[in-house]
Amino acid sequence: TRVAILISGRGSNMASLIAAAAASDFPAEIVLVASNRPEAGGLAFAAERGIATLALDHKAYPSRAAFDAALQAELVATGIDLVVLAGFMRIFSAGFVETWAGRMINIHPSLLPLFKGVHTHEQALKAGVRLHGCTVHYVVPELDAGPIIAQAAVPVLPGDDADALAARILVQEHRLYPQALALVAGGRVRLEGDRVMFSDDVP
Ligand code: GRF
Repeated sequence: TRVAILISGRGSNMASLIAAAAASDFPAEIVLVASNRPEAGGLAFAAERGIATLALDHKAYPSRAAFDAALQAELVATGIDLVVLAGFMRIFSAGFVETWAGRMINIHPSLLPLFKGVHTHEQALKAGVRLHGCTVHYVVPELDAGPIIAQAAVPVLPGDDADALAARILVQEHRLYPQALALVAGGRVRLEGDRVMFSDDVP
């Protein structure tokens, strides 16, 4: 399975995926890292590891559709099978998402369907939940609403601020996302309609 990781920033999830994919038995190969922000720190990290990188500055395109079309052309040219969003802070047109239906996943820093969108840790603190976490899901046109593949939970502790909570969850993101990618790329999880189907295969 040929994977493209899309980032917008520091790329710590991307780094955890690259590290996991270095194992010879990992069912996916990271062949491209692309960013809509040319200054994203993760691009240099990937390039240093011999992975092709691509900076597609969304500000250089006249419309969302034009950006998505340019990205689509690059993904097709690179022979990508699966698109992995890792801190990619840009919404796609519905057409792009439909093209990749069942072949595009995202990680979101909350226990979905709670706390969609941005500032999830502030949202969780405000709501007063005692458990918070992260979710890997298939991408659908509606933001953060796709069928759930995997989740990890952490406690919200007295005295937590958003940064403390984010750090506790990031540790789990770095563990969860490689596991979820292995499930999807290995064919042990797939999307059927709007349902996630798990095969009975033992890892
Ligand atoms: C992560 O918390 C991810 O869940 C969210 O944005 C953050 C990206 O961090 N969507 P990084 O770029 O992977 O370090």
